[in-house]
Amino acid sequence: MMQSLENKNILLIISGGVAAYKSLELIRLIKKAGANVRCILTESGTQFITPLSVASLSEEQVYTDLFSLKDETEMGHIRLSREADLIIVAPASANLIAKTAHGRADDLASTTLLASDKPVLIAPAMNPEMWDNEATQDNIQTLEQRGITLIGPAQGDTACGETGTGRMSEPEEIFGAILSFFYERPLKSFKALVTAGPTYEPIDPVRFVGNRSSGKQGYAIATALFEAGADVTLISGPTALPGPVGIKTIRVETAQQMLKACQSALPADIAICAAAVSDWAPKENKASKIKKRRNHTPPSIALKENPDILARLAKDGPNRPDLVIGFAAETEDIIINAREKLARKNCDLMIANKISAAENVFGSNQNHVHLVSLDDSEEWPRASKKTIARKLAQRIAQHINNKEKATNVRRIEAAE
Ligand code: CTP
Repeated sequence: MMQSLENKNILLIISGGVAAYKSLELIRLIKKAGANVRCILTESGTQFITPLSVASLSEEQVYTDLFSLKDETEMGHIRLSREADLIIVAPASANLIAKTAHGRADDLASTTLLASDKPVLIAPAMNPEMWDNEATQDNIQTLEQRGITLIGPAQGDTACGETGTGRMSEPEEIFGAILSFFYERPLKSFKALVTAGPTYEPIDPVRFVGNRSSGKQGYAIATALFEAGADVTLISGPTALPGPVGIKTIRVETAQQMLKACQSALPADIAICAAAVSDWAPKENKASKIKKRRNHTPPSIALKENPDILARLAKDGPNRPDLVIGFAAETEDIIINAREKLARKNCDLMIANKISAAENVFGSNQNHVHLVSLDDSEEWPRASKKTIARKLAQRIAQHINNKEKATNVRRIEAAE
């Protein structure tokens, strides 16, 4: 039986491209599943399909122009996005993708996307050369980093007579992605806490002890958990990354602040410590800048140990999350060392990174990890940090599912 989309509100943005005709079929599928669909048709979209056919199929007024006074009074661009549960851009032209990546707002479609706080799925459609172009690839990467989900594009012949990647996915596939968005969210109703990035431990008002962590892996994990439906709090040390859309991001500097923010985010069902917390902090944080006077010998900085946030979160007690996952950066005996760390800190799983000159993970978009539990380990092939994050979110969902099943069995056994 087809899953119902009853009471769901979908905003479909149709930009210019031959594939726009496929969006008519998409509207039909969405309507048949019981959802309400409002459509924005860009000016170039109107070159390919008419507002009348979109209006007839959607049974709603079609929005075409940001500066149409009538549209703006009846339904402003802010309301269009606020009243939607999900925004789909199909077809997403190279131009609209570029505008969205750069935050431009020069028509109704781009303005609505910029003003949106809603999850967005995009189905690109363009000539294969345009798709392969570094500019488009960079824009796509930017959008994905911000949490926008990509559907396709597919491979095959395109309308311009060339073959390659660039065809818009078929309406059925886009519709499938809409169903997955609403129904396959295995971590819905779970609360997750993720730490990411380095910590900076002040020496004086201008200097600090820190490390090279970029925060990319932790941010990707927070995003993947959010995509899987979890309510995510990301507690981040100083990074150059923007806070992922839809995720509560708390910025901190020191390990002490990170610990405090983590404790305030409890209770949580899942805690993942991806932060590279500085193991030590200067004993003293000087109130004024240490001056380098002539002939002055370099100062020595006495250090004190920082709290181990992972170990504190994983410590048995009423507030311990059901699943606590840590990271272990190892140069040798990866599994043995990670397992020792897991036991010492009372974690459920460890993600062990192999650190070597050949596999520099700091700042890289790639990672090579082992998933280690007390009695098992699994090597994951080298992949993007995003892929690893999504795989981890799936594993977490499985783990929780198995745990729930086991609890139910125990409950049934106890009742018998
Ligand atoms: N961690 C933490 N708080 C600390 C130190 C570490 O939460 N003060 C967490 C990290 O987020 C990570 C794991 O503990 O999940 C890493 O443990 P750590 O003992 O620091 O191991 P490594 O970084 O691998 O280094 P080492 O083996 O040198 O201890």
